[in-house]
Amino acid sequence: MDKILVHGNRRLKGTVRISGSKNSALPILAAALLTREPCVISRVPDLSDIHYMLTILSELGCEVERASGVVTVKAENVTTEAPYEIVRKMRASVCILGPLLGREKEATVSLPGGCIIGDRPIDLHLRGFEALGAAVRVQSGNVKVLAPELRGSTISLRGKFGSTVLGTDNVMMAAVLAEGTTVIDGAAEEPEVVDLANFLIAMGAKIEGAGTRRIIIEGVKELHGAEHEVIPDRIEAGTFLVAAAICGDGVTLTRVEPGHLTAVLDSLSQAGFQVETDKNRITISPNGTRRPLKLDALPYPSFPTDMQAQMCALLATTDGISVVTDNVFPQRFMHVSELKRMGANIELQGGTAIIHGVEKLSGAPVMASDLRASAALVLAGLQAEGVTEVNRVYHIDRGYESIDDKLNSLGAEIERLKV
Ligand code: EPU
Repeated sequence: MDKILVHGNRRLKGTVRISGSKNSALPILAAALLTREPCVISRVPDLSDIHYMLTILSELGCEVERASGVVTVKAENVTTEAPYEIVRKMRASVCILGPLLGREKEATVSLPGGCIIGDRPIDLHLRGFEALGAAVRVQSGNVKVLAPELRGSTISLRGKFGSTVLGTDNVMMAAVLAEGTTVIDGAAEEPEVVDLANFLIAMGAKIEGAGTRRIIIEGVKELHGAEHEVIPDRIEAGTFLVAAAICGDGVTLTRVEPGHLTAVLDSLSQAGFQVETDKNRITISPNGTRRPLKLDALPYPSFPTDMQAQMCALLATTDGISVVTDNVFPQRFMHVSELKRMGANIELQGGTAIIHGVEKLSGAPVMASDLRASAALVLAGLQAEGVTEVNRVYHIDRGYESIDDKLNSLGAEIERLKV
């Protein structure tokens, strides 16, 4: 298990290139199951979650090739049951259900359990499949969906915490091959849903309204192979912006989509940083005083839950009182106890963190608990006095392509130890 040593008190400056989006690439790779013809997906980031997805696709019978960011998937003949041993490692495996149901009219995967960022049910996904005519059976830890035929329907994916991103993806992937028209109300509006819809459209699907709350899908008989480039990872970009806010003297992100980061950029401006955007670039620089924030993580286009932990790391050393609420995953605050071990003054009240900014954090051994929490600990380490030892960094490798090398290229001093 690798660990990362972050030497604090370094300044960051320069340019960093943003990778393709993990959360777009995962369902897009799964969507290749919808056709027998080859699909060529480019800008696929080199991450362990992507590796799990490619392994699942291979186990299902797909031919998978990968060459520097370009993945070709040919799903000529597929089985419909995903192996537990791989599926259990990644919750996003659940997004193979939709395409398998669409194409083969049945699919079985292990039910995802709870995870460290809270109870993560898939009731909305299943409700959507049922509305399309599928029967859902939960047995021996597996969920099986099957339908003699799929029929378009009107489906609401509104849940207690808003819509569901992978649920919208799943229902959309099943509905593209259903008979007739499907209307998804309360659809997730995230850019990753739009990216998947664009890929499906390139495969011959008829979809309107992706990126809004109402998606309309006209079922087609079959889909064909397609090529697609994955959008830039807005959460990786946001993480580098926060790193640059914490200890940067002017950092530019390239190959990024500023339009996907409006809420994050607004928050950073409010917090006192100068943010300049160009077509595919964002530059962030210090601009005098840092200000505390009141932040509410909500579904897109509001501030993303996937950036909440990183912002806590910034606000931990921002003078004044900041209040950060996560309305999507109210239990996603595992980073708080670790930040406190580094000297942060944070009080948790339910799904809200009340952060009293301190002048300085101090390096400490800390434990990564999930992907974004581990990123937050690395960012905290960048500004700490001394060395921060981040353990269990496999979490970070699930979602950040070479984060240590990229930060080092900007002037950080991060070592990775093989233990
Ligand atoms: N929810 C339900 N029922 C469902 C599905 C979701 O109640 O059937 C609830 C969840 O418990 C949560 C809220 O709805 O409170 C939103 O969850 P959502 O389904 O949108 O999450 P997801 O699709 O499983 C994706 C990302 C997450 C990101 C969330 C929210 C992928 C692979 N994962 O998960 O990314 O936090 O959307 O934006 O796309 C990450 O990258 O670190 C990560 C966790």
